[in-house]
Parts: sequence; structure tokens; C-alpha cells
Amino acid sequence: MGFLSFALFMLLLLCVLEFVSAQPKTEPLEVDAMNKIIDHWNLRRKVNLNIDPCIQNASWAPETANPRIACDCSATVCHITHLKIYALDIYGEIPQELFLLTELMDLNLDQNVLNGSIPPAIGQLSKMQYLGLGINNLTGPVPAELGNLTKMISLSFSSNNFKGTLPPELGNLTSLQQLYIDSSGLTGPIPQELSNLKSLQTLWASDNGFTGKIPDFLGTFTQLKVLRLEGTNLEGPIPSSFGSLTKLEDLRIGDVGGSDTSLDFLENLTSLSILSLRNCRISGQIPEHLTTLPNLKILDLSFNKLTGPIPASFRNSASLQYLYLGSNNLNGDLPTDIIGSALIALDVSFNPLTGNIPTYRKDISVNVVGTSINDVNLDNEKASQMLHCLQGNNTNCRTKNPSTSFSVNCGGVEKVSADGIKYDDDSEMMGAASLYTSTNNQWAVSSYGIFISNPSGPRYIAQTDSQITNTLDSELYKTARVSPNSLRYYGLGLENGVYRIELHFAEIQMDDDSTPSWKGLARRLFDVYIQGERVIEDFNILNEAGGSKKALIKTFEANVTNTVIDIHLFWAGKGTCCIPLQSTYGPLVSAIHVSQVSEFKVSSSESDRKRVGRIAGIVIGCVAVFVVIGSVVYLWRAKKEPAHMRVHNESPRKD
Ligand SMILES: *[C@@H]1O[C@H](CO)[C@@H](O)[C@H](O)[C@H]1NC(C)=O
Ligand SMILES: *[C@@H]1O[C@H](CO)[C@@H](O)[C@H](O)[C@H]1NC(C)=O
Ligand SMILES: *[C@@H]1O[C@H](CO)[C@@H](O)[C@H](O)[C@H]1NC(C)=O
Ligand SMILES: *[C@@H]1O[C@H](CO)[C@@H](O)[C@H](O)[C@H]1NC(C)=O
Ligand SMILES: *[C@@H]1O[C@H](CO)[C@@H](O)[C@H](O)[C@H]1NC(C)=O
Ligand SMILES: *[C@@H]1O[C@H](CO)[C@@H](O)[C@H](O)[C@H]1NC(C)=O
Ligand SMILES: *[C@@H]1O[C@H](CO)[C@@H](O)[C@H](O)[C@H]1NC(C)=O
Ligand SMILES: *[C@@H]1O[C@H](CO)[C@@H](O)[C@H](O)[C@H]1NC(C)=O
Repeated sequence: MGFLSFALFMLLLLCVLEFVSAQPKTEPLEVDAMNKIIDHWNLRRKVNLNIDPCIQNASWAPETANPRIACDCSATVCHITHLKIYALDIYGEIPQELFLLTELMDLNLDQNVLNGSIPPAIGQLSKMQYLGLGINNLTGPVPAELGNLTKMISLSFSSNNFKGTLPPELGNLTSLQQLYIDSSGLTGPIPQELSNLKSLQTLWASDNGFTGKIPDFLGTFTQLKVLRLEGTNLEGPIPSSFGSLTKLEDLRIGDVGGSDTSLDFLENLTSLSILSLRNCRISGQIPEHLTTLPNLKILDLSFNKLTGPIPASFRNSASLQYLYLGSNNLNGDLPTDIIGSALIALDVSFNPLTGNIPTYRKDISVNVVGTSINDVNLDNEKASQMLHCLQGNNTNCRTKNPSTSFSVNCGGVEKVSADGIKYDDDSEMMGAASLYTSTNNQWAVSSYGIFISNPSGPRYIAQTDSQITNTLDSELYKTARVSPNSLRYYGLGLENGVYRIELHFAEIQMDDDSTPSWKGLARRLFDVYIQGERVIEDFNILNEAGGSKKALIKTFEANVTNTVIDIHLFWAGKGTCCIPLQSTYGPLVSAIHVSQVSEFKVSSSESDRKRVGRIAGIVIGCVAVFVVIGSVVYLWRAKKEPAHMRVHNESPRKD
């Protein structure tokens, strides 16, 4: 009791001292609101707000403070202008008291676990310039009242679970320079009113259910430097108006259906450093001017319909590091000299290219799988020959001592499972365009892509020390291969017949711990193709397994008619990009077990050609066509299993 009254006395003394100082007073309504907010989010331990929040030199005022409260005291009374509560896992709803802080110009609530909806009262904060609500668990509609905040310079509501469409009122935010709305949950058309956002420099809009055509008006945002538009339901063509976006440095469009686009619009986009137009129905030839972009570092044109030769003038680029041209219709010989001085990785896989592989610098990774190029450099000549069976025009692959099964511990060392199956070592470090063939020549793996935003961050192997549940083979799941774009396993030298394919998964990069955290808001989505047929779309390991670090086995059946099997894990632009770390996305697989179920007689070489042709060519067509199909059919298809493929959803073995 004595201590308490002493403490109270000291507090009073402090307050009195406060009053006598020259410090201007803070608007009492705001002080009261601020205290209620601090209590609402249980932050009093982190910010000991027992005095005026706008006191000079307060410990919570510097820009680096978190939570941060900062004020404007230029008038006779102070107002709270800045509030930051960043990545502190505050949870619960946005309290009404927040909207009493009407002078707020910078509100950063990014990376928390806020739920409920954004109250329409947000429209009262009309001084707002920087509003961050990204990476939270918010639901409901995005309120039209946001359009009232016309001073806004930067707005983020990425990575939430909103419903509905983009409100047209956002078109009133004509000062907006940065808009982050990726993975927001929104669907439907992009409203025409957004054409007023002429000051935009950065637009992240990937991984949403946006429909309709890619808006023409995006091509009038001449200040744009960064545009991300991957994994939506938008349709091509890429408007020719994009030819005016001469300040673009980073353009990523992907997974677009609709009509074809040529690369002509790129003629004047000379600021580009990253250009990724994967899976966009790009047709025509690769124009020479693309090889002369002075700052281009990453060029990804894979999974398109490009024809003609690969321009040799790529060798003149002093900036190009990663060149991805896989899964197109490029033909002719691979130029003997296309390697520029900065090049690190070249992928030309699955193109009808011919000739011999030129001798390149040793430090370059080159992937020519699925072409007719003679890869004399490949260490493993036997595997090289067997990989030729993946080529479109190779009709009669025969193998001397065919095998009938293979097993891989993806990303890990050799392991024997509880039921006695030996899973081969697959711990080879792979790079940005790699092919690795197993020492026993039974399988190969190729991966292409770089984790663009964090090239030095997540590698191509994921690892955990945690136990994996729902399995007797925890060890098998503690490593996995991951890829930013395309991860492909090939079974080689197999006896033809019907095979059973077991794919083992466990989510080990994304966490869903029991304590609510923004780190638990990640979504990984990818597609799986076997022998060129899509067998899973928008696969979410964590959801299907019922949590992270839980084993899940998916089983499929497929025919081997040309001694090879092709298991392709493909990122179609969906899922969150950056939770818990930048560049955490893309396909992940823990182990693979393939074994023959029965033999069959192949009737004629005619059927051989068809099947193999599909391996090489169908992926592009399949993906693109699917995007065109309306969302009703989409849902129906997603629920229904493909008729031609038996899919067993085997429940994982129990401990
Ligand atoms: C606040 O800090 C500045 C310099 O850091 C100092 O000059 C000033 O006296 C401080 N004011 C108070 C009230 O402590
Ligand atoms: C928000 O989360 C809290 C628990 O953290 C829960 O009690 C509340 O019902 C949730 N609100 C909504 C709208 O989901
Ligand atoms: C919009 O802002 C004005 C002040 O600029 C305010 O008076 C009005 O209430 C706000 N409207 C909404 C819907 O919040
Ligand atoms: C905001 O946008 C809506 C719809 O685009 C429009 O009707 C309204 O007049 C605009 N409001 C202001 C204050 O400009
Ligand atoms: C590129 O700029 C030139 C010169 O201004 C112009 O004639 C041409 O049409 C532009 N190309 C594209 C694709 O916009
Ligand atoms: C098939 O591959 C060979 C090289 O193995 C090549 O010479 C030939 O042009 C290819 N044929 C077709 C139709 O692509
Ligand atoms: C997000 O909200 C949903 C309910 O809307 C809840 O099931 C989920 O656990 C929440 N996520 C986190 C990380 O709290
Ligand atoms: C395998 O081939 C048989 C006929 O030989 C066919 O009936 C079956 O549908 C094929 N299975 C798959 C998965 O393509």
C-alpha cells in the first residue's frame, strides 16, 4: 500500500512538472483515444504512455521507435500525426478510437494479425498520406471511404482476406505514388476510375482474382517504375499502350490468358532491369531491340509461344544475368556465342532447338532439357541420352536395362523409409538454371528461376530441424526442394507401363504456430503436372495437410510410353510473396516415389509420338486455356478430379 501511494505521488509530481514546462499540450481527445488504442492492443508494456504522448524527446517519437507515436506541435496544441505499430502481432479489430486521431498522416499497422473489417470511418482521416494495413487478417470489403483520403501518397492492403471488388472511389486518390494490393483477396474487374491514378510509380497487384482485360489505362501511368501483375485472372493481350511506360524498371506480368501479345511494345522501355512475362501467350519472334536494353538483368519469357531463332546479339549485353526462354517454340541452332559478359544462367529447355551445345564459360549454368541440342558437356552422357526421350520428335526411345521404380529424397541425403524404400540423395546445390542427374541414372531434376526480390535469401533447398507429424518418416520431410518458378523431376530409362507416383509434401517454410502471428498468414500455391497433364491446381500444402510440418502424400497414376516420366511443379503466380521472408513462394516437394503398377503393350509408334509431343508442348496451352474459362467452371473443375487421371487422396500414415 505504501509503495502504491508513493508511486501515485511520483506520477502526480511528474504531471505537475509536465504542466509547468513550456511544452504545448496535446489535444485531450487524442490523448484519451491514444490511451484506449494502446490498451486495446495490449501495448502498454511496450510504450509506457503515462505522460503526454507528444512530450518533447519522448522515447516513442524517433522514427526508429516501434511502437512509434509522433506529433505536430507547431500550433498552440499538439496533434498526433504518426502512429506505427509494425510487426508486433497485435490482434483483434481496428478500434473506433483510431478515427479520433484526425490529424494522422502516417499510419503503419503492417504485419500484424488484425481481423474484422476496415471501418468506413477510415474516411475521416483525411490528412492521411501513408497508410499501411498490409499483411494482416482483415476481412470484409475494402471500404469506398478510402477514396476520401485524397492526400494519400502510399497505400497498402496487401496480403489480407478481403472480399469483393476494388472500390472505384480509389480513383480519387490522385496523389497516390505507391499502391500495394497483392494477395488481398479481391476479385472482379479493375474499375475504369483507377485510370486517374496518374502519379503511380509502384503497383503491386499480383495474386488477386481480378477479371477482364488488362486495362489499357495502365499504359498512361507514365511515372510507373514497378508493375507486378502475376497470378490474376486477367486476360491479354498486354495493351500496346504499355509501350509508353518508358520509366519501367521492373515489369512482371504472368499467367495471362486471352489473346496473344507480341514483344513489340517493349521497344522504348529502355529503363527495364527486370522483365518477366511468363506464361502470357507471347507470340512472334524475340526482337533484336530486346538484346540491347542497357540495364536488363533478368529476362524471363518462358512458357510462351515465341517462335524463330534466339538472337545471337544477346552476347552484346553487358548487364544480362539471367535469361529464361524455356517452353516456347524457338528453333534453329543455339547460337554458339550468345553469352554476354554478365550472364549467370541460361535456360532454353523445351524448345525445338538443334545443334551442339557450344562450349561456354564454366561458371554458367545452362539447361537444354527437352531440346534436340546435343549436350556434349553434360557430365553424365547416359542420362543425357535418356533425357533426349523428352524431346518432341523422339519417337523410339529404347533402354537396355529398364528400371521400374525410383525414389528421391528431394533436397536431402539418402534415406531409407520405415517401409524399407531407399530414397536417393538429392542434396546437390542447384542454381538459377540447373539440371542434375542422379548417379544411378534413374532420374534427373531441373529447376529454373531466381528468387528475384531476395537473390541471396532463400535457397533452392528448404530445411527444418522440427519434427514432422502424421508420418513415420519425419526425416524424409525435413528437407525439400523449392523453386521460384519451375521444378521438374524426370524418371529415366523406365520400362513402359502404368506407374504410380507418390508425391510427399510438408510445409516447412511457412509456420502456423499456436500463437497468432503475421508469420502464420502465408499462402503457398502451385500446380502439379504429370506427363504434361495438370493433376493439381492451386495446391496449398499447409491447408491440405491441416497445418505446417505435417506430412501429406498425394498419389497419382500415369502411363510411361517413352521410357520417361515428367513430374512438373509449376508456380502460376499465386500465393503470398513475402511471408515470413521476402521471396517465400513457389513449388516445394519433400520426396518422390514412383513405381510400376503394370505393364502394357504399346500399340504403335504413332501413339508414342502423340504422348511425348504432349509432354513437350501441352503445358503452355493447358495453363493458358484454363485461365480463359470462367470462374464458375473454375470452381467446378477445381473440385472435380480430371476424368482421365485417377487421383487418390491418400491419408498420411499415422505415427
Ligand atoms: C531534447 O533533445 C535536444 C537535443 O537532442 C535537447 O537540446 C533538448 O534540450 C531536449 N529537450 C528536453 C525537454 O529534454
Ligand atoms: C477477431 O479475433 C478475436 C480473437 O483474437 C476474436 O475474438 C474476434 O471474434 C475476431 N473478430 C472477427 C470479426 O473475426
Ligand atoms: C471525408 O473527409 C471530409 C473532410 O475532408 C469529412 O468531413 C468527411 O466526413 C469524410 N467523409 C467520410 C465518408 O468519411
Ligand atoms: C470519388 O469517386 C466517386 C466514384 O468514382 C465519385 O462519384 C465521387 O464524386 C468522388 N468523390 C470526390 C470527393 O471526389
Ligand atoms: C518508340 O519511340 C519512337 C520514337 O518516339 C516511336 O516512333 C515508336 O512508335 C515508339 N514505339 C513504341 C512501340 O511505342
Ligand atoms: C529431330 O531431332 C533431330 C536431332 O536429333 C533434328 O535434326 C531434327 O530436325 C528434328 N526434327 C524435328 C521435326 O524437329
Ligand atoms: C485469420 O482469421 C481466420 C478466420 O477468419 C482464422 O481462422 C485464422 O486463424 C486467422 N489467422 C491467424 C494467423 O490468426
Ligand atoms: C493409360 O493408358 C491407357 C490405355 O493404354 C488408358 O486407358 C489410360 O487412360 C491411360 N492413363 C492415363 C493416366 O493417361
